[in-house]
Amino acid sequence: MAYSDWWKKSVVYQVYPRSYQDSNGDGIGDLPGLTSRLPYIKDLGADVIWLNPIYKSPDKDNGYDISDYRSIQPAYGTMDDFDKMLQEAHVLGLKIIMDLVVNHTSDQNKWFQESKKSKDNPYRDYYIWRDPVDGHAPNNWGSYFNGSTWKFDETTGQYYLHLFADGQPDLNWENPQVRDEVWNVMRFWLDKGVDGFRMDVINLISKPAGLPDGPKAPNEKYADVGKVVADGPRLNEFLQEMNQKVLSKYDVMTVGEMPDSTPEDAIKYTGLDSHELHMVFQFDHVGLAGNADKRLGKWNDAPIKLVELKKSLSKWETELNGKGWNSLYWNNHDQPRAVSRFATDDPKYRVKAAKMLGTTLHMMQGTPYVYEGEELGMTNVHYTKLSQYEDLESLNAYHEFVDDEKIVDADSMLKYLSYKSRDNARTPMQWDENKNSGFTSGKPWFELNPNFKEINARDQIEDSKSVFSYYKKLIDLRHNSDLIVYGDYELLDPEEEQVFAYKRRYNDETLLVISNFTKEQVTRDYGQSKGKLLIGNYDDDLDMEIRPYESKVYLFR
Ligand code: NOJ
Repeated sequence: MAYSDWWKKSVVYQVYPRSYQDSNGDGIGDLPGLTSRLPYIKDLGADVIWLNPIYKSPDKDNGYDISDYRSIQPAYGTMDDFDKMLQEAHVLGLKIIMDLVVNHTSDQNKWFQESKKSKDNPYRDYYIWRDPVDGHAPNNWGSYFNGSTWKFDETTGQYYLHLFADGQPDLNWENPQVRDEVWNVMRFWLDKGVDGFRMDVINLISKPAGLPDGPKAPNEKYADVGKVVADGPRLNEFLQEMNQKVLSKYDVMTVGEMPDSTPEDAIKYTGLDSHELHMVFQFDHVGLAGNADKRLGKWNDAPIKLVELKKSLSKWETELNGKGWNSLYWNNHDQPRAVSRFATDDPKYRVKAAKMLGTTLHMMQGTPYVYEGEELGMTNVHYTKLSQYEDLESLNAYHEFVDDEKIVDADSMLKYLSYKSRDNARTPMQWDENKNSGFTSGKPWFELNPNFKEINARDQIEDSKSVFSYYKKLIDLRHNSDLIVYGDYELLDPEEEQVFAYKRRYNDETLLVISNFTKEQVTRDYGQSKGKLLIGNYDDDLDMEIRPYESKVYLFR
């Protein structure tokens, strides 16, 4: 069956349901709350909503530990609430894509509860169990969430593998029964009418044969598991099977989260001939910002190195052109807030900087993703105390490096977390200037960013100069331009350290994008005086003068 490429022309809005809108006063965002906000998302102009996990879960990793793939987390509502939300979204012309988390489950999942009972349990082989080696863990892999990837289980005297937290045991994809279970879960949601999936760490599902040790620096306790496991030997085969058995039967959109992937990998999986995924989330550009090293509790808070950022984004733009498809993002629930990280949240420049980042990304080739609150220019929360954090990745890192290994002092680690913790992105959505910013009438599950009186949706919707109104224009431009959707990309002036400038070309039209990533005014001539200004974040245009965090886009015909 041939399907259209609607996902190439779409803009995706990401909703972290826990922090979006509470409807019943329990302090936790929920599905009826989201339903009530669908018109807001529609007004912004998004086409698709990516919903972070809403399945039943003990919530050790905020829903990325699923105990039942076919039911809704009670705090988020019921299956009826989900159906109603889906139906209302569709009435508004919004599509919904779900988070498919199938590298691992929760340890509370029935499959794992059975699996750990005995070595001959029918579910034993759903997970990856190994005998101890010399009384220790079977290999030297270090978990993404600190410590070993192996946990010993007394009942059967074996270790199980968990690339993330110990409450997130990895599924054994070598077992065909496991794959069938996953296909059935996918069919369950697709048959309800969902419009696709964002696939959590999907390039980690195929583990290398024999689970060999990974390379390890002498001063480190564990090997970086991503380097050993990403892009494993049977990944292509598993994704092809997924496509043949499930995805090819539905006109849906797929995006695979792929840590440690390269453009070559992405072409392998999103390539126009491979029929596997539509696009991947890569991490190169977010890995550059801030140059974090959590083992040292170090954070380089010097401004980002623009030359490297340009190189990285441009590499993906040019290498995938005509061969695959990019997903474009600055932000998500795992990344600090973009404006604080890639530009500045200094109130003097914040609005300009947020618009500049939006312009730079939304004029590229690929499908743009907007993470809740990014359209308002929401900022990092800048916590100062450990007790303010919720995220287990942040807490685990603190405990391992500060309390256990004592290789970082508490102040440095807190500074690191205030820049880098995922919690920066997870504070509740800022709807208005009232109590709890309109997020909940109860006690919010997580402290709000105190700047909600200055930064909130209600003010911005009414203000034609707000970040929100500007994002609306960016999205509208894309919806009306094949040049923005399909045009070829060319980076200008790669070694220039302050300005990110590029061109897009399609048929006989050219687009020129110029963004100043600094707070200094600079003079640059990219031939803009001959173009027609399409959009800019200042009220007027000073031609070759490019003001602090200014961004402007010109059309040439
Ligand atoms: C990636 C998700 O985005 C992140 O939030 C989660 O902690 C890990 N995968 C594990 O599922």
